[in-house]
Amino acid sequence: MKVVCIGSGYVGTVTAATFAKIGHSTTVIDIDPNKADLINAGKSPIFEPGLEELLQQLAGRLLTATTSFQPVREADAVFICVGTPSMTNGSADLQYVKKAAESIGRHLHPERFTVIVNKSTVPVGTADLVASIIEDSSGLRAEEQFAVVSNPEFLREGFAVQDVFFPDRIVVGAAGAQARSRLKALYRTIAERSGYKEMWKDSPFAAMLRSANPLYLETDPKSAEMIKYASNAFLAVKISYINEMAQLCEALGANVLDVAQGMGADSRIGGKFLQVSSGWSGSCLPKDTAEILAASRLYGCKLSVIEAAVEANRGMLSYCAGKLQRTLRTLNGKRIGILGLTFKPDTDDVRETQALSIIQKLLELGASISAYDPKGMEMFRKLHPDLPVRYCSRAEDTAVHADALVLITHWKEFRSLDWKAIGREMRNPYILDTRNDLNGPELRSLGFRYEGIGI
Ligand code: UDX
Repeated sequence: MKVVCIGSGYVGTVTAATFAKIGHSTTVIDIDPNKADLINAGKSPIFEPGLEELLQQLAGRLLTATTSFQPVREADAVFICVGTPSMTNGSADLQYVKKAAESIGRHLHPERFTVIVNKSTVPVGTADLVASIIEDSSGLRAEEQFAVVSNPEFLREGFAVQDVFFPDRIVVGAAGAQARSRLKALYRTIAERSGYKEMWKDSPFAAMLRSANPLYLETDPKSAEMIKYASNAFLAVKISYINEMAQLCEALGANVLDVAQGMGADSRIGGKFLQVSSGWSGSCLPKDTAEILAASRLYGCKLSVIEAAVEANRGMLSYCAGKLQRTLRTLNGKRIGILGLTFKPDTDDVRETQALSIIQKLLELGASISAYDPKGMEMFRKLHPDLPVRYCSRAEDTAVHADALVLITHWKEFRSLDWKAIGREMRNPYILDTRNDLNGPELRSLGFRYEGIGI
């Protein structure tokens, strides 16, 4: 089939590479010619493990990128994969989705039945909105000459390639049979894992071949849109829950690692997303909880559990800053090294990261900050040019004369730093490990005061 993906961010680039890999002729459309050039050269506009290898394989063959909307005319399916950032009231900003819809409408072929797919996370009801915009700009009729479908993306940054080829579920919200069968055909390879043994043998995903085939769920567009918000809000609740449990464990002298393991062994609860942190952040959970709460307010339906999860997440910041204050007393003039700026490992994404809030809080309290991240420093510096942070080219450099090191993101490489040397560099060898990821007993034996959260 001929597939078009509009937007070359995390979702668009990965989605396009996926469809190209399973044999569809795919075009990425982005208004930024630099991003289009990068993709055509087989280079990824974002850092995502495994993505660049895919682009190198596919660029110029089944995958091309352009700034022109012309390929929409020939397309069987057009995926809208543009950003939907939060506005100040929490609602998702749909300006890019609306612009994309309008441009799609101007280029639709009147005699081809084109399926337009909302892949971006969009508020419930957006499929109807996009259909209206396309009707206006094309003069065509929804469900007769084109259809708008909701097919939310569930990929996690850092695992995006694995998640799109080995998803737990594929959700398709479509009103009509023609759009449903188009999407089913488009996804057949992934839904049935056909040809997967050959495709993934000798790859890092070979072990995934043993996992179950995904659920292919067909529903109406609103339910599909709702599945995405309900899922992400639930994940936020789950993390906030374990983070609060960690605080109570700490107060009572229990160990949250064992508590999480014991809880997670109950198959009704499940062991994933019970890892303690300084809070959930990133470009999805904060935005999606804000949108679902904004929608609930508009429709007079109180979501007190999600409200509490957001509140608890804010509380984790004060909790972490409080731990530093209890150990260092006044933070005025203290030097603090930050390990990790991205919202989680294996991504360069620093949007809405918890690291920013913690750094701002520590600066407010008079501390000076040095920071290191393996992938996120460039974007962090670009987004916050006025933040007085000293960026270090090596993790070890954050320790020089430092009164504390705070591990915010659990990049694997932090485990194997030369901790002995780091201890010698620090004015006060104290580590706050907000992910409980380092080897505490070993660090204590090296003379560190090591603190996790809830252990
Ligand atoms: C999330 C959803 O998981 C994904 O399905 C959706 O499509 C997009 O939003 P993502 O934002 O990439 O994915 O990250 P995720 O792995 O969910 O982590 C979100 C935040 O929660 C990160 O800051 C992460 O470090 C934190 N987290 C996650 C925890 O603090 N503890 C956990 O146990 C898991």
